[in-house]
Amino acid sequence: MARIIEFGQGCDIPAARRRPTAAEARGLAYDAEVKAAVDHLYPKVKEFVTPMEWPAIAPFVHAINMLKKQRGAVILAHNYMTPDVFALVGDFRGDSLQLAREAARTDAKIIVQAGVHFMAETSKILSPDKVVLIPDLRAGCSLAASVTGADVRLIRSKYPGLPIVTYVNTTADVKAECDITCTSSNAVQVVEHVAKKWGVDRVILIPDEFLAKNVAANTHIEIIAWKGRCEVHEKFSGEDVRQIRDAHPGVIVLAHPECPPDVLEEADFAGSTSALAHYVKENGPKKVVLLTECSMSDNVAAENPGVEFVKPCNLCPHMKRISLENIYDALLDMKHVVEIPEDIRVRAKAAIDAMLALPKPTSFPKFRIGDPAVPVEVI
Ligand code: 13P
Ligand code: SF4
Repeated sequence: MARIIEFGQGCDIPAARRRPTAAEARGLAYDAEVKAAVDHLYPKVKEFVTPMEWPAIAPFVHAINMLKKQRGAVILAHNYMTPDVFALVGDFRGDSLQLAREAARTDAKIIVQAGVHFMAETSKILSPDKVVLIPDLRAGCSLAASVTGADVRLIRSKYPGLPIVTYVNTTADVKAECDITCTSSNAVQVVEHVAKKWGVDRVILIPDEFLAKNVAANTHIEIIAWKGRCEVHEKFSGEDVRQIRDAHPGVIVLAHPECPPDVLEEADFAGSTSALAHYVKENGPKKVVLLTECSMSDNVAAENPGVEFVKPCNLCPHMKRISLENIYDALLDMKHVVEIPEDIRVRAKAAIDAMLALPKPTSFPKFRIGDPAVPVEVI
């Protein structure tokens, strides 16, 4: 796990001459109480956190766990969190859909979203009476930034009578203008459902151009797409897959459907972040590569010690804004509170509720792989 090493236990620079660790600067020490409370958790992250780093991390883990209890808070951690956040303080872990379902269900008074801003908004939309905190307001998403509510109104006027499906990776404003949301776990199911409900054979699916194209390859419904891209997944290509296979014979290639279609054409399996994790657990491949955000491989590797991971590392700069440090600050100072104007929230909730009302899939849906891309209108 990439992080700036801070001097901790085992470092022989006298305390008076060294910069305090982030924990020490907040008055948190690696003392006997912390050791007794959290040292047993170290094996969960031992592949990513060196023993030298642990004394700088452990006080945060302890303090966060204490604050969670005091405040009645839960941490919803997306699969892209770094292993310290994911394994040590996350109460619920999963993909966007699983976290949204948890936000709707939890009894906790406070939700800390260890993920990006649209995920925190989704939690607030579903749980308006709860306080939803995002540890860093800058944790955005290139897909969410690619489209506005005004754009959706223009699309609606250009294509009257067609349902508009929005990926959850959008702002509340955008969701409020759309008919139903989807995630990578249920995009095909949602598109087919809404086409049937509206009695149409064309559906607008925004804002991820590649997700839309990958959905189009999995359904007879014609898809109209928007030109948004995930800045992490757009970097992968079919040529990358061929190179990885040449360099690592026998490797199993798993891809997220935000990757370009030529990646899915070359992959062995494609699905949501949790579907990829599930594939590894169920199939126990000897060697695997996950074409998705970098930290996800670390989290899946920690739970599948027998599997060898090839690790290309495309980091999501937005997800990486969330850290133990700012989760602690968020819980301590109750910041940053996510608020959504009520009229927008209510309309956005209708779009999310329409998705959540669909039957819960009994297994992780997978995208068909190996097919060439189908032509899609991109607006
Ligand atoms: P999942 O819904 O598969 O977790 O994806 C969310 C995301 O942001 C992927 O980049
Ligand atoms: Fe957005 Fe891509 Fe980051 Fe996911 S990985 S939050 S889609 S920029």
